[in-house]
Amino acid sequence: MGILHSVADTSAGADASPAARAAAAGRRPDLGAGASPAADGPAVEITHLRKTYGSLVAVDDVSFSVAEGEIFGILGPNGAGKTTTVECAIGLRPPDSGTIRLLGLDPQADRDRVHEIVGVQLQESAFPAKLRVGEILEEYRSFYRRPADVTELVDALGLAGKRRDYYRSLSGGQRQRLSVVLALIGGPKIAVLDEMTTGLDPQARRDAWELIEKVRDRGVAIVLVTHFMEEAERLCDRVALIDSGHLVALDTPAGLTARARGGKRMRFVPSGPFDDRLLTGLTEVAAVQHDGRHVVVTGTGELVNAVILALHAAGITARDVQLDASTLEDAFVRLTGTRLHQNGDQP
Ligand SMILES: Nc1ncnc2c1ncn2[C@@H]1O[C@H](COP(=O)(O)OP(=O)(O)O)[C@@H](O)[C@H]1O
Ligand SMILES: [Mg+2]
Repeated sequence: MGILHSVADTSAGADASPAARAAAAGRRPDLGAGASPAADGPAVEITHLRKTYGSLVAVDDVSFSVAEGEIFGILGPNGAGKTTTVECAIGLRPPDSGTIRLLGLDPQADRDRVHEIVGVQLQESAFPAKLRVGEILEEYRSFYRRPADVTELVDALGLAGKRRDYYRSLSGGQRQRLSVVLALIGGPKIAVLDEMTTGLDPQARRDAWELIEKVRDRGVAIVLVTHFMEEAERLCDRVALIDSGHLVALDTPAGLTARARGGKRMRFVPSGPFDDRLLTGLTEVAAVQHDGRHVVVTGTGELVNAVILALHAAGITARDVQLDASTLEDAFVRLTGTRLHQNGDQP
């Protein structure tokens, strides 16, 4: 798989960041200097995308759009169709049906202009073993009219000391980080990162996350393919859950989580017996269950305050109060019936 080059216009500049917040709130951020002159529309707009390989339907009726300044996650297990979706999105694969627009441009018909605005880190990329890191960086930099600050990128991804090293001597994690640098080197308006942090150690992963947030703060739309929950939860404004080629859900990480559980859950040990109706009568409470000495209450809103106040009014103290946050992992299992990854596959 080749690397998609882009000759980028870096005029997105250093605008500070309300973009992502606006995107998360469902508004299109006003970035002023936004898109290149002719390009317009959402950063990414995919409608009813379908892609088959022979008799295998890899992507079936997937639709979503991504705003400028948004980090949009595509999350799903191996084989779900994530890579196929982004390869179609950037014009590397023609879809069987459906439409794709990147800032209003068709990636098949407007290939050259799309390459100016999109930076891509693909899951598989390889360079000639005998090239040095610095040579690869220089070559890529030369493709762009106004490249990003390469030193800053290289520092941020911990490759500063590696410029003289041969590509073949890099570890898997270092190669991965180099591919992220190359995706961002042209200062793209849209960055597509496929499994960006797979193979990175925890520190490198956190560094990569910080870098992505900085890039987003400049108004760049980021499409982040991942199978790591923690990454999606930490970084993404919205997440598309994809399973077996289908878009199963699309929401904020918090929204997905809440949807899966139907709200919050608290556990406590009451100081004495009480009538469940004391709690089930509260608007915040959905259900009350007993688990040995523990009481488990599920509900929404200011659940904990409401429960503690109601108990207090009845002369009961709640001890050992625990609030468990339901996670995106729970959401995934609930919405798809499958686990996202096996043990040992954690970041
Ligand atoms: N070039 C290809 N030819 C045939 N089948 C493919 C090809 N690429 C991917 N697939 C199949 O399509 C499905 C989706 O793959 P992919 O998009 O790579 O998923 P993901 O990135 O979510 O792991 C898988 O069943 C995979 O085996
Ligand atoms: Mg993939």
